[in-house]
Amino acid sequence: MTALGVCPVAHGQVDLFDPAFVESPEGVLAELRETAPVYFDEITGCWLVSRHADIRSVLSRPDIFRPENALTAVTAIDPSALRILARVGFELPATLANNGGASHADLRTLVRQFFAPASIATALPVIRALAMDSAALVKQDLDASGEADLVALVTRDLPARVLIALLHLDDINLPTLKRWSQDSLELFWGNPDVERQRELAVQAAEFYLWLRERLLNADPAGASLFSVLAAHRTADGQPLRVQESIGICYFLLVAGQETTTQFLSTVLRKLIGQPDLWRRLAGAGAYPDELIASECVEEVLRLETPVVTWRRVTTEPVELSGQVLPANAEVLLMLAGSGSDPDVFEDPEQFIPGRDAARQHLAFGFGRHYCLGATLARMEAQEVLLILARELPEIALLETQPPMLGLLSFRAPLRLLVTLQSS
Ligand code: HEM
Repeated sequence: MTALGVCPVAHGQVDLFDPAFVESPEGVLAELRETAPVYFDEITGCWLVSRHADIRSVLSRPDIFRPENALTAVTAIDPSALRILARVGFELPATLANNGGASHADLRTLVRQFFAPASIATALPVIRALAMDSAALVKQDLDASGEADLVALVTRDLPARVLIALLHLDDINLPTLKRWSQDSLELFWGNPDVERQRELAVQAAEFYLWLRERLLNADPAGASLFSVLAAHRTADGQPLRVQESIGICYFLLVAGQETTTQFLSTVLRKLIGQPDLWRRLAGAGAYPDELIASECVEEVLRLETPVVTWRRVTTEPVELSGQVLPANAEVLLMLAGSGSDPDVFEDPEQFIPGRDAARQHLAFGFGRHYCLGATLARMEAQEVLLILARELPEIALLETQPPMLGLLSFRAPLRLLVTLQSS
């Protein structure tokens, strides 16, 4: 039930873009899990799959539930916006997240080198330095005006700076990358009207052209992502098509930092909102800080992952929780609510750092396409959390309901105003 006492599922009123749902999705997600675990949603044309066991089962059967629809626009793109994309030859062929074919394993191995433990260990000092710099900016704003926005000062740019360093890309303008990537998310996972679609398509097309130019001119002997892609040869000795290389970069440069920005914002909101835990993180308690930080990060992933849904498409009729899905059914996996499934997590609504089964959530997917950035995202969140809590032990949230990003697959606070506690 919602706060209004009306069951939105029974009344066919699930609207995943509704600001009220985006603000507090828990009730509807629980309702779906309990009463309609495999539910056809008229608005998106997708089958919503809500139970943890069903989602895991879908992700474990990639031959029946294929990922080719992972990056297709959920709101049909108007021909006028499509023409803007077509003019630059915009195409996202099957590469990583949207590739259920034979080339996936090779491309995954190629990209994984940038996120291997030895590689991301080099990012640790970068993350720590950036988090310290951000904390100093927050202090400055608090001193000057009594409040500070942690999204603008901490979470917005930090993951992009880390990613750029890891991929050895040195000629990216950060505000431009953020505009391109946020507009791409909205174009493919949002509900924009036609005029907005055209604006977003212009940005996506610019991004695409920029990537093509960089990839065509990449030095195959270099260490950057662009160079590694230019030098790569497939099993039959062929170079990658430039469209494939662009597709990989497009996805990585968006998914590799926007998701973490969203996650850091949610982590900070959740932990600053629990003063006892914030104080423990600041080092006031006896419990080892690093451990409590990683346990808190895991609980936020379980309860409030930023990647709230992910898609698959069926190759043949298949049954899930008593419901038969036809072939070519679009499936929307409700990752967010699956972390509160009482069949897997005891007292699921409670925030219990270090709980049993803590890592059994599906925030990073499962199986063949499991997120390549999971270790990096966890590390960034843990470090930022610890450093912010230590540097700013006295902060408190100013807004209980900040404006939210509410796309089909992405959810996070867009602003996080804090002030100093008046203790
Ligand atoms: C908290 C932050 C993040 C979350 C919640 C997240 C979540 C996800 C999810 C749900 C998937 C789909 C998994 C599946 O289909 O089974 C995925 C795939 C992927 N993610 Fe992430 N992600 C995050 C951060 C990152 C970062 C930082 C990177 C890169 C630096 C990254 C790179 C990828 C890649 C390359 C894939 C596709 C893997 C494949 O298809 O083989 N992600 N992620």
